[in-house]
Amino acid sequence: MDMRSFVGVFVLLINLTSLLPKCCGTSQDDLKTYIVYMGHKKNNKISPSFLLQEVASSNPMLPRKVIAHYNRSFSGFVAELTEDEAIKIAGYDGVVSVFSSEKRQLLTTRSWDFIGLPQDVERAQYESDIIIGVIDSGIWPESDSFNDEGMSSPPSKWKGTCQAIDFCNNKLIGARYYKRSFGKDFFEKNMFSPRDIAGHGTHIASIAAGNLVRMASMLGLGQGTIRGGASSARIAVYKACWSDGCDDVDILHAFNDAIADGVDIISVSVGGKINENIYMEDGLTIGSFHAMQHGILTVFAGGNSGPNRSSIMNVSPWAMSVAASTIDRKFVTKVKLGNNRISEGTSLNTFDLEGKLYPIIYSGDAPNKKAGFDKHSSRNCSSNSLDDNLVKGKIVLCEGNRGASEALRAGAVGVLIQGTISTNVAYNHPLPTCYLYWKDATHIRKYIHLRKTPTATILKTEELTDTLAPEVAYFSSRGPNNITLEILKPDVIGPGVDIIASWSPVALSNTSGENRTLAFNIESGTSMACPHVSGAAGYVKSFWPTWSPAAIHSALMTTAKQASLANNHDAEFAYGAGQIDPMKAVNPGLVYDAVEEDYINFLCGQGYNSTTLKLISGHDNSCSGEIYPTARDLNYPSFALKAPHPKQHVNGSFLRTVTNVGSARSTYKAIVTAPKGFNIIVKPNVLSFKSVGERQTFTVTIYGKMKKSIGSASLVWDDGEFQVRSPIIIFDERAETGAGINLYCISYIYVALFYLLFYIIVIQ
Ligand SMILES: *[C@@H]1O[C@H](CO)[C@@H](O)[C@H](O)[C@H]1NC(C)=O
Ligand SMILES: *[C@@H]1O[C@H](CO)[C@@H](O)[C@H](O)[C@H]1NC(C)=O
Ligand SMILES: *[C@@H]1O[C@H](CO)[C@@H](O)[C@H](O)[C@H]1NC(C)=O
Ligand SMILES: *[C@@H]1O[C@H](CO)[C@@H](O)[C@H](O)[C@H]1NC(C)=O
Ligand SMILES: *[C@@H]1O[C@H](CO)[C@@H](O)[C@H](O)[C@H]1NC(C)=O
Ligand SMILES: *[C@@H]1O[C@H](CO)[C@@H](O)[C@H](O)[C@H]1NC(C)=O
Ligand SMILES: *[C@@H]1O[C@H](CO)[C@@H](O)[C@H](O)[C@H]1NC(C)=O
Ligand SMILES: *[C@@H]1O[C@H](CO)[C@@H](O)[C@H](O)[C@H]1NC(C)=O
Repeated sequence: MDMRSFVGVFVLLINLTSLLPKCCGTSQDDLKTYIVYMGHKKNNKISPSFLLQEVASSNPMLPRKVIAHYNRSFSGFVAELTEDEAIKIAGYDGVVSVFSSEKRQLLTTRSWDFIGLPQDVERAQYESDIIIGVIDSGIWPESDSFNDEGMSSPPSKWKGTCQAIDFCNNKLIGARYYKRSFGKDFFEKNMFSPRDIAGHGTHIASIAAGNLVRMASMLGLGQGTIRGGASSARIAVYKACWSDGCDDVDILHAFNDAIADGVDIISVSVGGKINENIYMEDGLTIGSFHAMQHGILTVFAGGNSGPNRSSIMNVSPWAMSVAASTIDRKFVTKVKLGNNRISEGTSLNTFDLEGKLYPIIYSGDAPNKKAGFDKHSSRNCSSNSLDDNLVKGKIVLCEGNRGASEALRAGAVGVLIQGTISTNVAYNHPLPTCYLYWKDATHIRKYIHLRKTPTATILKTEELTDTLAPEVAYFSSRGPNNITLEILKPDVIGPGVDIIASWSPVALSNTSGENRTLAFNIESGTSMACPHVSGAAGYVKSFWPTWSPAAIHSALMTTAKQASLANNHDAEFAYGAGQIDPMKAVNPGLVYDAVEEDYINFLCGQGYNSTTLKLISGHDNSCSGEIYPTARDLNYPSFALKAPHPKQHVNGSFLRTVTNVGSARSTYKAIVTAPKGFNIIVKPNVLSFKSVGERQTFTVTIYGKMKKSIGSASLVWDDGEFQVRSPIIIFDERAETGAGINLYCISYIYVALFYLLFYIIVIQ
């Protein structure tokens, strides 16, 4: 079986095992790890042990123990409980929520030039005081990206620590790791330290804030200088992701420490909860809320479950959710047949067959009959399906979206994959590989069957200019947002296809048949898009150290370059405000600012009561008004309006406040674009400012009739110098489902999303 199918199966297994306790548990087996979240760190009036004593009183033989405390940045604890006990605890005053710990999955550098942040960009002196916290699979500290040459000691605000010897330096100033529980074979597959043996965390950290590294390449591909966005900033890593994923318990530990350690930005390339319909019942929404409370912006990957609608993850309004797009470099691999015909596909083929023609065979003609395969079942080159005697020394053509592992096992020289998805994502395999789109590969199949001695060769991958970039990646999750429909997510797009960055040299060595060690690797996923935005956020913050998380969030959104609607019927649900432009974001003109109170009011409108909100915020300001605010009243830098019924009239309004951070004296005019059939009225439509920091309020009213399921519009405040652009999306319920996806694709995407799983499964 190929790596991807391994992963697919593994994911399936997780789903199945999660059902087990329900059907066959005894009372002892019913114990699950629960997180009892108690809000602000001031809320320590009831002691965890008291709570546990109270609820377990029905069963004095089985005392419950506190497994872990959270008390540096917020309040809570972890314990093994039965479902009944968890429900009881949730009913106590002083408890915000109780939820079981779930596993999350992990979801260069030409990319910075592509989005307009050149190597010689002006950098603020303060950049070296910026600390980017990365919650991921750890880090490979010896990578050149984290060399501290010429760096002074950490800024005095830093309160973190390094939990490994000879690990940290003045660039990588902190490293912690968390692991709640581990299975029997855990130690064989993991290193019990903040060291990254999966590659993912090293990749992310180097994109966000890695040093310049000259002459980097993945075995010759993508050669150039790689660098992070905030390349002078410091890095602190919090390893919460292991070979078996990332537990909520560990993610919350990571946030608890990162906030108290004094980081400025938190970057999290980890998938959110699936089917999430509530805030404050998982590690990521809780952690990022308290980060916001302490002035720290959290940037999340938006997920790789696209192109289905309603697949966007990590949608809390106090954090950013990032979608992935292409950059202007693509990797093209050519296949040449014996008749000189050339086809083009995608892969990262660093092997040189020197133009030599090899016999080519179709997988359906080489079934492993001894193992029970026939000409149909061998077509997709699943595990053990090919006959070694027929395949050895040849190039094999497989159907489906995989096949490299089986081809390698059977002794093939190379593999052509006849894929079903048109994708520009290139993958690296341990033998010459080319992924061809179905139609393009069909003539190769014909050629094989028409010739007596068909031959072919696979050329080394070439780098070409992708003139269509930026396009939103096929796999990138789409809106609308499942928890609050009228908060547009994703917020922005960042480069996330074929990104080269630093890598853990041991990461590939344990995959089947892969001998090569890589200091740099090319990877795709919203995982890679996220640190582009974290790095850019660090860059902006270095110029404006006192800006709130919402101000930085707003600056990155309102200065983003609008993406093209051309081949993107998902519109803003695919790209949000568009592609970030870090240099522009330093001078946004106006910002849509928000403070903790605004989010508390928002939560109030979402149905949280004063008691709960007081616990979360630690003070009495909650839900005081007569009318509960709607999501539309949150001072968010974008506008989303849902029509009550398809094809009917819509009429909705929004209240917004902008803060002047541009020229002291300035007059902005509202410029609106609206789809046919819609009127968008901004009142007032001129805003005059006399000083920096001055705030002005306006309303936006939208009315009209839905024709298509999505209408795309925008509001730009323009003073001649700054253009402050907000996307507007109007949609009806038809927009919540859309764009199908085929099953092959799901496992294909998991290669990027579940890198850790992929790694561990393959070594088994
Ligand atoms: C705070 O958490 C630490 C461990 O993380 C624990 O040892 C300590 O007892 C906790 N303090 C309180 C007051 O709960
Ligand atoms: C959003 O809800 C739909 C419908 O319930 C579900 O299929 C989808 O997985 C959800 N998306 C996320 C990211 O949880
Ligand atoms: C490969 O083909 C076999 C037989 O047709 C099928 O059972 C299996 O699901 C296929 N695998 C994939 C990954 O499509
Ligand atoms: C790779 O696997 C071998 C055993 O299979 C193990 O000893 C080694 O530690 C592994 N390397 C890493 C980096 O996990
Ligand atoms: C890995 O190394 C072994 C032994 O040196 C060799 O037989 C094998 O072909 C190598 N595999 C690859 C993919 O290079
Ligand atoms: C507030 O909400 C919580 C959780 O939904 C509930 O347990 C509590 O009784 C509510 N309190 C009030 C005063 O309504
Ligand atoms: C939209 O609603 C507002 C208030 O609910 C109302 O004043 C206005 O006339 C409506 N506009 C249209 C075009 O229906
Ligand atoms: C996408 O939607 C289709 C049906 O519309 C469904 O079959 C498929 O499982 C979905 N994919 C994901 C990744 O949720």
